[in-house]
Amino acid sequence: MSEDEAEISRVTRSKVEAKASYNIMSKWYDMVAGFAEKKCRNTGLQKLSAKEGEVVLDIGFGTGHSILALAQSVGNSGKVYGIDISEGMCNIAQSRVRAAELSDRVALKCGDAAKPHFEANFFFSVFMSFTLELFDTPEIPIVLHECQRVLRRGGRICIVAMSKEGKANVMMNLYEWIHAKLPKYVDCRPIFVQESLEDVGFQIVDVTKMSMVRLPVEIVVAKHVLPE
Ligand SMILES: C[S@@+](CC[C@H](N)C(=O)[O-])C[C@H]1O[C@@H](n2cnc3c(N)ncnc32)[C@H](O)[C@@H]1O
Repeated sequence: MSEDEAEISRVTRSKVEAKASYNIMSKWYDMVAGFAEKKCRNTGLQKLSAKEGEVVLDIGFGTGHSILALAQSVGNSGKVYGIDISEGMCNIAQSRVRAAELSDRVALKCGDAAKPHFEANFFFSVFMSFTLELFDTPEIPIVLHECQRVLRRGGRICIVAMSKEGKANVMMNLYEWIHAKLPKYVDCRPIFVQESLEDVGFQIVDVTKMSMVRLPVEIVVAKHVLPE
């Protein structure tokens, strides 16, 4: 974090409002946001490097591109679970999985990722792209603790998110201004990804900095090292 200890903005939109908004957005998400996010998301998937036979969780899977990629990586003997708050996103992702004939190795759930849904010590890895920055500040450690709970010891997590690390540029200032003015429409904002993971006890393995339409993005891989 910079010396002036920049604070991340709060998220004031309720879960009900977020769900309704992503339900509407699900129909055109790929056309609008999908393309810009693809490069960073794919880099995150590469960095996570899910292996044949692994059991993986994708949080906030959206229209399901990463679910498909992960299902291909884990193969027949592995399994991919996903959770997303929006039924619209769940339906689109489910159709994508069916069309790729990968339903036997994928299980998607509609729900809030801040609440417990999965067994403890169950997953080899957790993937989350452009989703952690949608949770309000006090919820970020709650979501990350939940990730630790469901990960096996030594399990990996990869977070791809808009980053507040470093010097703010014009695009970041503009984005944060829009977030402040239209909190019901733009709920995501840049966050400190590496620091959030360290704060809850993850051990950082790799940090990659990228940008998306000139907005800084952090892709952080970390390991669950706390006792089970
Ligand atoms: C910006 S989209 C990113 C989608 C996908 N990960 C990608 O990279 O294309 C964020 C996703 O997180 C989901 N989401 C938002 N709040 C959530 C929550 N509390 N629990 C689970 N999913 C949530 C939204 O429905 C949406 O599909």
